[in-house]
Amino acid sequence: MNKIFNNPTINEISAYCYKSFAMSNTETNILYLLSAANFKKKKQELINNKRKYIFLSEFSNNLDETILFHDVKLNKYHIYFRIDKDNTSLKYLSLIRSKIPSGKWEFKNHSKVKKHTFLLAWILAGYKPIIKRGIEYPNTLLVEKNIRAKKDSIEEASSILFGKELINIPASDMNTNSMKEVIKDFCLHHNAQLNLVEETNVLKENFPAIYAVGKGSENKPFLASFTWVGKSNGPKISLVGKGVCFDSGGLNIKPSQYMINMKKDMGGAAATLALANLIITRKLPVRLKVIIPCVENSISGNAMRPGDVISTSKGISVEINNTDAEGRLILADAIHESDKDEPDLLIDFATLTGAARVALGPDIPVFFTESDKISDFLLEQGIEMDDPVWRLPLWRAYNKYLNSNIADISNCSSSSPHAGAIVAALFLQKFIMKSKNWIHYDLYAWKDVKEYNINPGGDISCIRVSYNMIEKLFISS
Ligand code: BES
Ligand code: ZN
Ligand code: ZN
Repeated sequence: MNKIFNNPTINEISAYCYKSFAMSNTETNILYLLSAANFKKKKQELINNKRKYIFLSEFSNNLDETILFHDVKLNKYHIYFRIDKDNTSLKYLSLIRSKIPSGKWEFKNHSKVKKHTFLLAWILAGYKPIIKRGIEYPNTLLVEKNIRAKKDSIEEASSILFGKELINIPASDMNTNSMKEVIKDFCLHHNAQLNLVEETNVLKENFPAIYAVGKGSENKPFLASFTWVGKSNGPKISLVGKGVCFDSGGLNIKPSQYMINMKKDMGGAAATLALANLIITRKLPVRLKVIIPCVENSISGNAMRPGDVISTSKGISVEINNTDAEGRLILADAIHESDKDEPDLLIDFATLTGAARVALGPDIPVFFTESDKISDFLLEQGIEMDDPVWRLPLWRAYNKYLNSNIADISNCSSSSPHAGAIVAALFLQKFIMKSKNWIHYDLYAWKDVKEYNINPGGDISCIRVSYNMIEKLFISS
């Protein structure tokens, strides 16, 4: 079948990000970000000078938030935005691009907003999924050449948009075969060494849990692992991402309202590639290893059944209480593989439980770690960087929910609905032995509704705060 959506490439996405910026400095309008006090002063000045201005009211019902001033002599627009303390989020700033007249814009910042944040918001605000990309966004921003903030924001935006694009492409096109091509292409682009495990018999033998989850689908499962070295004795950083290209629930089929968005169940793999892209692009002095187990959780005569007992590469046998708790099974094999390298830090990203969403809603990914140092950093910097995350405990007593009468453990509780996100994290923890530090992120990877100017669809979170954490806690120390 012909594809409707092409696989995204890093080159294509970063070229797209560059288009958010103006090439020449002629005919530019000016965009001012002002603190509340500066805004008040400016407004008074315009009134005193009897200049012609209008208020733009689109931002809120508060007419005092923006002033559009047309300089007739120079034939330029000047727009003044009042940026209050709590209006510095990426989402809020993304609104600016959609509300100003088309054209080229310079921006002058007299507010608390960081230049870098504004530029990132500007690029992200222009994102449209590939299929709608015919018309370019009508606004471009002029910034000084070669400034750090421009380079930084393009690197972050390309990583985020690459991941988003992978999530947004429907499972009809972004299936396990396409994911394999995407990963091959990614490795070629970055000169990373790729190892693919795709032969059915080899998977069955060496990664039995990945095999068991994937065997019900016509789209074959695989495990991809690649390495990239920024510094030969740098810290070992390992990333693992849940790559379920579609999660029907398997024989424990999901009801329709829960199945509808399940093309996003490879959101962990997408976040992993996004973070890997940032690390490699910025040549972080680390030894990076990325492992992506990729399957489709399907229904067929050959699908894994409730009540089956499967084995894992670590040798732990697992009773399948629910075929919809598939993510932790493929991660078990992938995490065990990753753990063998004794990484300084192992991070896994996964759209693992509905329970994490019940607890924290769509905006805040959950993380688990035994390290208070890592946790403190993530909590504080997550808020500071507008990439928020929240900790849940690895509460040992809940291991009882994984008891099985017939196998070493169950994949989920057969009786209790309690603490689903914690129980899933405890399941994964059984496969961590040698890693010096471990973080598990339970993600949503999705925006249900349009917020400010960010469209609904795939969402990449945690990667900016994780990058910062790796840099600050694992490199400079
Ligand atoms: N992919 C889902 C989890 C999910 C659902 C993430 C909705 C984000 C939004 C996962 O494979 C799953 O189905 N988990 C089950 C586990 C349960 C059967 C123990 C869940 O959370 O209901
Ligand atoms: Zn599931
Ligand atoms: Zn799933």
